[in-house]
Amino acid sequence: MRILMVCLGNICRSPIAEGILKHKAEQHGLDWIVESAGTNSYHTGEAPHRFSQKVCKQHGIDISGQRARTFTAADFGKYDKIYVLAGDVYDNVQRIGGQNAAMKKVDYLLNELNPGSNESVTDPWYGNEEGYQPVYDIIEQACDAIIRRYGYLKKYN
Ligand code: 4NP
Repeated sequence: MRILMVCLGNICRSPIAEGILKHKAEQHGLDWIVESAGTNSYHTGEAPHRFSQKVCKQHGIDISGQRARTFTAADFGKYDKIYVLAGDVYDNVQRIGGQNAAMKKVDYLLNELNPGSNESVTDPWYGNEEGYQPVYDIIEQACDAIIRRYGYLKKYN
């Protein structure tokens, strides 16, 4: 499984999602590739937001080595599954993909919890530190659901 987590800036939400799913996949002995990207390039090359780093560290996950990168149309060919963290991100992914936009690979991360609901993870960028823990919690629940759904694939890797 090659999984890409996508948000807008790739500094707040999707770095947390990458960190959590990578950690859980390792714990379950799954040989998965988990990465993240953003649909805008304002923060390309930057480390995750300090509060994203902090909330992950509080849960034993070090995401300090991640660096933001911009989502490109070529990413549709590099991953089996592309999870968008929000509705605006879904639209951006489709637009960036253009003719290469294999939208069958794309789903809302929170649809792993509530299929078909197309819910967004609140963007903590505009708030304060308190906003990061609920974001972590909902992403963790969705990552647990991904492990439950695709974990059996380990037999075939
Ligand atoms: P993220 O949050 O998409 O969760 O990384 C954002 C960070 C920066 C911006 C937007 C969202 N920005 O426009 O700079």
